[in-house]
Amino acid sequence: LADASLSFTRVPHPAPASAEVRAQVLANPGFGTKFSDHMVSIEWSEDKGWHKAEILPYGPIALDPAASVLHYAQEIFEGLKAYRLADGGIALFRPHANAARFNASARRLAMPEIPEELFVEAVRQLVLTDNEWFPTVEGGSLYLRPFMFATEAFLGVRPAKSYRFLVIASPAGNYFKSGSPAVSIWVSDYTRAAPGGTGAAKCGGNYAASLVPTAEAFARGHDQVLFLDAAQHMWVEELGGMNLFFVHADGSLITPALTGTILPGITRESLIMLAREEGLTVKEGRYSLDQWREDAASGQLLETFACGTAAVVTPVGKVADHNGEFVIGTGGPGQLTQKLRQRLVAIQRGDEADTHGWVTRI
Ligand code: PLP
Ligand code: COI
Repeated sequence: LADASLSFTRVPHPAPASAEVRAQVLANPGFGTKFSDHMVSIEWSEDKGWHKAEILPYGPIALDPAASVLHYAQEIFEGLKAYRLADGGIALFRPHANAARFNASARRLAMPEIPEELFVEAVRQLVLTDNEWFPTVEGGSLYLRPFMFATEAFLGVRPAKSYRFLVIASPAGNYFKSGSPAVSIWVSDYTRAAPGGTGAAKCGGNYAASLVPTAEAFARGHDQVLFLDAAQHMWVEELGGMNLFFVHADGSLITPALTGTILPGITRESLIMLAREEGLTVKEGRYSLDQWREDAASGQLLETFACGTAAVVTPVGKVADHNGEFVIGTGGPGQLTQKLRQRLVAIQRGDEADTHGWVTRI
């Protein structure tokens, strides 16, 4: 049922964070551990469709122990950021792209789609309600996490008949600990996603599967895990939470193609467009770990960077697997990586003209 015209009921917060507590959080937000005062909730049932749109105090939710999300992981999510612009306004970056991807994930997980306008309106309502939760640190933003899960209490294995959609907001600084000029990645022996699986969907299950490999990467002293393809264990796919780009000595870029096993990143797509506008050649194709190692050694490959909403554009300095490790370029941020990052951030923050209609003022 398409109902973008739902009106949101606000339940007043009995005890919002004090100005002092909020100021402390906003001066040092970190990533993903602090949350704003409110959350948005919308319910879905077979008979009513989307209904009961509310802005609630942020807090625990009640769930039946038999709710199917707790057993069969019928859950999807999104991640996008709101920015405080130089003129004091607030903007979301490409929220309709997140809404469209959310619905693609919903289709793959046998969940109801949400009208794109309702998705964006839910995010907008939360940001406007909690507009005092923007970090005061350089590079800060308000990270939004829309998600949906199956609430029906039923142990049979089939798509549930009731769902809840929530949006929470978290003041965010850098995803990676500051001080490291480039991240180090561990090539996992595990597989994240196989052909025909859920790799292209943003569902919690994909991340559950990535936790052992991620813990292994951390234990070995790396910042992120890298997954190769499931069939040949040869082709670079993506990191645990980011897409990858490779910059060759001739200035051309390559990024793994969207084969169905990697997440179609919105940052990835934006960077492809920006790079092409700069006159650069960007290929979406296959790139093997062996080729990468060889190209890095011969100087054919100058830079590698990871990208995503949380990570923005982050240089990769070092890559390791059981055969040893190799360094990319100088091991620090490359020139093109920095340039693309600056352009993207300038557009997101309204410091550079938005010629693509990506910046949505709310
Ligand atoms: N790949 C994975 C597995 C991710 O979790 C993310 C983050 O959302 C990305 C790629 C990058 O996607 P986006 O640029 O849309 O944030
Ligand atoms: C994002 O970038 O929004 C993600 O979902 C990645 C996650 C690892 C934080």
